[in-house]
Amino acid sequence: MHMDEIRRELASIISAVKTRIDMEKRFGVDTITLSKPNKVTSLSLPNAVTQIETIETHVAKKPIGGKITVPTVEANGRSPDDALKTSGDQTSMSEKEQKIKLLEELRKEMMSCHKCPLGKTRTNLVFGVGNPMARLMFVGEAPGRDEDLQGEPFVGRAGQLLTKIIEAIGLKRSDVYIANVLKCRPPGNRNPLPEEIVLCMPYLIKQIELIQPKVLCALGTFAAQTLLNTKAPVGTLRGKFHEYKGIPMMITYHPAYLLRNPNDKAKVWDDMKKVRDFLNEF
Ligand code: URA
Repeated sequence: MHMDEIRRELASIISAVKTRIDMEKRFGVDTITLSKPNKVTSLSLPNAVTQIETIETHVAKKPIGGKITVPTVEANGRSPDDALKTSGDQTSMSEKEQKIKLLEELRKEMMSCHKCPLGKTRTNLVFGVGNPMARLMFVGEAPGRDEDLQGEPFVGRAGQLLTKIIEAIGLKRSDVYIANVLKCRPPGNRNPLPEEIVLCMPYLIKQIELIQPKVLCALGTFAAQTLLNTKAPVGTLRGKFHEYKGIPMMITYHPAYLLRNPNDKAKVWDDMKKVRDFLNEF
């Protein structure tokens, strides 16, 4: 192989590794494991970054046919911090207040819901949380134990990962809105039953109508299949925008699945970059 080709190849490998490290850091991972035949090394991310930068400087010393470009996380010139957040500051308080009022009325209505047996076994109803003016709304499956105890969605381990995913695209948890398909915990964290979904779905539909997000993000099989009314597996649905009643909807893996399958974090990072870039376009 010609030297120039080797350098180009090396530059693209470095770029891929940097993107990967960036993603891991954003999702809160601080160690990566490098494996060679017969040798496994764990590196703290700052050390890994320093090593990569040393190699990169070395490769870049003799640029071939121009500068080596490493794709940056920010896809365009706009600050993601500003562009992705809510439109709340620009819109009138009355619209925000109106939404808060209507959401509160809906929550009160749901408090007395015993349409299915989960109303009897729940500790708390888990309504939804976040900014009523959110441009991005996440939909999960159902409360787990921690959520049932605290009455707030995504506060357990999966929730902590979701918070990191949100922060990875330059937002805070308080910028977005988070709700579930089911508002009460299925005992033992079993899967939601079809009849429970049917009975609970009107509440989620109402929440989406009130929030009016610019983008929805369905987390995992139950949210994706319910909102799209399909039986297709999440693996084939994820990674592209679908539509829910005219609202673009990204499908991605559920954070709880990611805790069990960390190798799929890169796919979720790809999906979330699409959401971030979509919101940046607005
Ligand atoms: N998993 C979900 O789908 N929702 C939660 O609120 C917590 C875990």
